[in-house]
Amino acid sequence: MDSIVVKGGTPLKGKIQIAGAKNAALALMPATLLSEEPLTLTNAPRLSDIKTMTELLRSLGVEVTALQDGKVQVLSSHAMTSTTADYDIVRKMRASNLVLGPLLARHHQAVVSLPGGCAIGARPMDIHVTALEAMGAEIELKDGYLHANAKGGLKGARVPLRFASVGATENVLMAATLAKGTTVIENAAREPEIVDLAECLRRMGAQIDGEGTSAITIQGVDRLGAATHPVVTDRIELGTYMLAPVFAGGEVECIGGRLDLVGSFVEKLHAAGVEVTETADGLKVSRSNGRARAVDVTTEVFPGFPTDLQAQMMAMLCTAEGTSVLEEKIFENRFMHAPELVRMGADIEVHGGTATVHGVDRLKGAPVMATDLRASVSLILAGLAAEGETVVSRVYHLDRGYEHVEEKLGAVGAQIERIAGS
Ligand code: EPZ
Repeated sequence: MDSIVVKGGTPLKGKIQIAGAKNAALALMPATLLSEEPLTLTNAPRLSDIKTMTELLRSLGVEVTALQDGKVQVLSSHAMTSTTADYDIVRKMRASNLVLGPLLARHHQAVVSLPGGCAIGARPMDIHVTALEAMGAEIELKDGYLHANAKGGLKGARVPLRFASVGATENVLMAATLAKGTTVIENAAREPEIVDLAECLRRMGAQIDGEGTSAITIQGVDRLGAATHPVVTDRIELGTYMLAPVFAGGEVECIGGRLDLVGSFVEKLHAAGVEVTETADGLKVSRSNGRARAVDVTTEVFPGFPTDLQAQMMAMLCTAEGTSVLEEKIFENRFMHAPELVRMGADIEVHGGTATVHGVDRLKGAPVMATDLRASVSLILAGLAAEGETVVSRVYHLDRGYEHVEEKLGAVGAQIERIAGS
């Protein structure tokens, strides 16, 4: 397994191109299952999760062609061979469950393995199941697989979600495009990736209103057609690299960054004394002299503070002036980066879903271990600020969600290199 070595203390200077959003692409790719016409995605990110989704869709008979080194993905499901998503793929990536809605909508059946738990939580699918049952699906759990059928197709319905689940909203949104009648999703997730999926489905001929609000209305149509759609900018990669100069000093411009994607995150940066400037090409952050100020953070559904930026923010607050309290409200176990940061000299107390961070002057480089995607990158960022050398192991977690992180940070002056593992 590869590891990444970071030497701290070198100020950064330059521009980082932000890629297309992993969490948009992982919902957009299964949308091809809704139509026999081709779906072309541009600005696609080059990530291992995209390769896993490609493997899953190909196992169903979907043709997936990567062009321009993976930045363009052309998908076509005109020759489907299966409607079963196998456990050996689904267990690697929970987003595999996003084939459930489209398969039910167009093929009226699906067998999808339950993803099983992952490092950050149990991650059940009850909200997805309840919602699709409201649209007439019959879904039974057998041998760890959801066996779903919709004889005669899905029917439009009022679908209240008990929690604004991103994945459940995406599954229902896709399913509703081909259902008979009108569907209204209540308490829908409002993330930018939902808006991006709705825009793509509309290009395919779907009739959708209200995406980005808590109520999305979909008028079912008989069929969907071909489309070409640009994947929206990755707001989590954006937030991650905006923090880099706060750790290392210097100035970084994130090309493609948009304030509307990271509103609540930027509010917290301002409260911590970090200035963000809008430029013609993106968002620029320069380390104002002196330490950042402590701030309290509670993760919420969009437009609240994103859980996927909690680990990165905690790492930044480790050397802020004062004490910060972070509350993780979305997942039940998303503080695994805390003990690794403590190994680097941070002063963090975790009690259940609350972490209290007492700012220290400096972190010290140490060997640390990546545990989940966003925890991994928070350790890389901490290494930029730490005295000496930090070695982050198990970086396969990192490669799931960050394109060539050592190249992007190295290009703006970070002392960082990847060591090929055994
Ligand atoms: C999406 O996961 C993202 N993944 C996650 O990003 C992100 O952290 C999460 O949304 C929250 O914003 C993708 O988009 C591929 P949820 P998803 O359904 O859809 C519970 C990353 O690092 N829940 O909104 O799985 C669930 O257990 C990843 O890029 C149920 O209880 O998230 C969790 O506690 C990590 N029952 C909470 O809701 C359900 O049926 C949020 O889950 C569904 C979810």
